Amino acid sequence: MLGLRPAVAKSRQIQLQLDITEYTRDSDLPIADRQLLFRAREACEDAYAPYSNFRVGAAVLLANGDVVTGSNQENAAFSMCLCAERTALAAAAYLYPNIAPVAIAVTARSFQSVLQVPVPPCGACRQVIAECESRFRKSIRVVMQGEVGVVWKIDSVKEILPLGFDATFL
Ligand code: THU
Repeated sequence: MLGLRPAVAKSRQIQLQLDITEYTRDSDLPIADRQLLFRAREACEDAYAPYSNFRVGAAVLLANGDVVTGSNQENAAFSMCLCAERTALAAAAYLYPNIAPVAIAVTARSFQSVLQVPVPPCGACRQVIAECESRFRKSIRVVMQGEVGVVWKIDSVKEILPLGFDATFL
């Protein structure tokens, strides 16, 4: 009988789509995002990054219109380094415990080269931004830029954290 049975598909391909809006330059952004990116850029200057020489700034826009910023804070014990996004989100959660973050802008400045491509949040920061989305049941817009060049905007961190782990699995 071998070979007479019709072939049954035992696997299938699943494709995921990533939805990014690209702006040619930051002046093309809607004003609120342009201002948020500006605050992130300012925050870069407060980074403590003597080991990587890679300064990251993040600015969180809250539902009440206030903005809280943060920058990366490094440590000689490298695993203790804090990313800008998590520094900003933790500060926002402390200062405004019950107000939802609605957007976060991220930018960076490197001493090695002029960063021309958008700098996305690292995996750990994506997970933390996703937790904020779940907690407040509200999407968080993520706006990213390098030092110069195009800006990327996504409407939810889920765009860049597909198949993320969340409380629904617990
Ligand atoms: N960094 C951030 O602040 N955010 C990220 O999403 C990626 C990495 C920091 C951590 C470290 O201080 C430096 O950038 C180099 O990895």
